[in-house]
Amino acid sequence: MISGIFKKINLNTQAKIGNDIHIAKSYLMHGQPVAIPTETVYGLAANGLDASSVAKIFKIKERPFFDPLILHTNNLDKVRGFVSHIPAIANKLAQQFWPGPLTLVLPKSTLVPDIATAGLSTVGVRIPNHPLTLSLLSLLDFPLAAPSANPFGYISPTTALHVHNQLGAKIEYILNGGPCSIGVESTIVGFEDDKVIVYRLGGLGIEDIERAIGKVHVISENENNPAAPGMLKSHYAPKIPLYRIGINNIEIFEKFTRIDGIDVANNQIGSMVFKDIMAEFPLNNQFILSPNGDLNEAAKNLFSAMRQLDNMPLKAIISEVFPPEGLGVAINDRIRRASVQ
Ligand code: TXA
Ligand code: MG
Repeated sequence: MISGIFKKINLNTQAKIGNDIHIAKSYLMHGQPVAIPTETVYGLAANGLDASSVAKIFKIKERPFFDPLILHTNNLDKVRGFVSHIPAIANKLAQQFWPGPLTLVLPKSTLVPDIATAGLSTVGVRIPNHPLTLSLLSLLDFPLAAPSANPFGYISPTTALHVHNQLGAKIEYILNGGPCSIGVESTIVGFEDDKVIVYRLGGLGIEDIERAIGKVHVISENENNPAAPGMLKSHYAPKIPLYRIGINNIEIFEKFTRIDGIDVANNQIGSMVFKDIMAEFPLNNQFILSPNGDLNEAAKNLFSAMRQLDNMPLKAIISEVFPPEGLGVAINDRIRRASVQ
């Protein structure tokens, strides 16, 4: 009896966590997805030019097929191998910001299978800025399709352990590159006629992009956006409701206690604040994302704090709205998507 039980447990694969790029390469060459670190968030990677490897990503993440993936590689020459054209302005952005938290949407070549791009004629491409993953990519003659390594709709992982907690039973290997240095996903930029369009706010600030190439158009949350079917309004969401408040917004505080019946005094609420504590809310469930008021540090800590709060016995999370500059814009975007809208 007992040996039978042990056998059953052993059959349940649990991903190994390690930092061996040759092991990662071997799984990838055999069509098995591997989690990889990037500077933004961890990705769930597979051979982006092989439809059956890409299909496994969708299955593991339970991701709908209409949501296209990003292809990752380690140099611009390789990018030229799977896109049909790089507009001059895209080339300028690539030269300036790659490797880095920027995804460019470019016309795809026939090498890229439709499943990777949700049937679109364009493909998202990025050279990530993480030494371990760049070394891995340099060993491969194919790009890695890699969405964030979380179940579809949940908060993106920023450590190997986050990946293990959610996908550990479904994959073989997690390449551990430490905590992600940026902490929010890449900024996604596309090119329509003569316009530069930002489809997703992210780890590269709009100010930086505009300094390089002039004014860009940022797609707003309500705009119809057929070019990016993956830009779902609700995303990155914790399991318990998350509400956004302005600094010291007492009206919302009253809503919790009076209307939603949440007992604030009884520690039923958790909070995320930028730099100063909010004394109205329980301090033991309060995450200060950057005591020094550094938006980069706040972005780095955002998803980890959201995850930890989501795993505590709370009834709701509240979050401050951040200053809308630099990475504050991307932080506010993620908090809005995570929130009860
Ligand atoms: O930082 C990141 O970008 C991370 C790391 C792993 O690189 N990846 C990531 O992937 O966030 P994912 O799958 O969670 O988000 C990819 C999004 C899609 O949901 C879609 O909005 C956009 O990229 N996208 C991909 N291909 C596109 C295309 N051809 N046209 C427009 N948007 C596209
Ligand atoms: Mg994602």
